[in-house]
Amino acid sequence: SSPSLSSSSSILLPPASHFIGKKEDIVKAGRVSKLVNGCRDVLVLFHQGQLHAMDTRCYHSGGALQYGDIEEFNGQLCIVCPWHKYKITLAEGEGLYQAVEDPTAKPLRTHWRSKGVKQRIHKVTEVNGEVYVTLNDSIEAIESDVYQTETYRSVSLKA
Ligand code: FES
Repeated sequence: SSPSLSSSSSILLPPASHFIGKKEDIVKAGRVSKLVNGCRDVLVLFHQGQLHAMDTRCYHSGGALQYGDIEEFNGQLCIVCPWHKYKITLAEGEGLYQAVEDPTAKPLRTHWRSKGVKQRIHKVTEVNGEVYVTLNDSIEAIESDVYQTETYRSVSLKA
């Protein structure tokens, strides 16, 4: 007998993947923030044909990234936190900032630098029009982890 839809899905899905929603709904909304596995608020974004997932609260001070604009800096797509405008790459969760090359030079010249990975990025999978997230369970601490406590989750996020 032919396999059912659900059994064929489970073959393709990575382990510990969590259903987020139908792709068409996420594409329409552009973004959705959801509590995953009862323990983590994850923001799923659809931008320029790609799905991305990261911790919902900004690593800097817990800002509401679901209300941030997406812009390109130094060739990298970033979400710009609406609270203090920190820039976070969608691909790696790196914090980007503009460094001044030489403070004595006029006019000042700046270039983009990375502070390293600050925001926890999660894996997104699409199977049969459904979107799933697999939590990034790397044991290395990432700054955005700080805002994934029950206390923070109980506070609703505003722009
Ligand atoms: Fe300050 Fe995001 S909370 S920039």
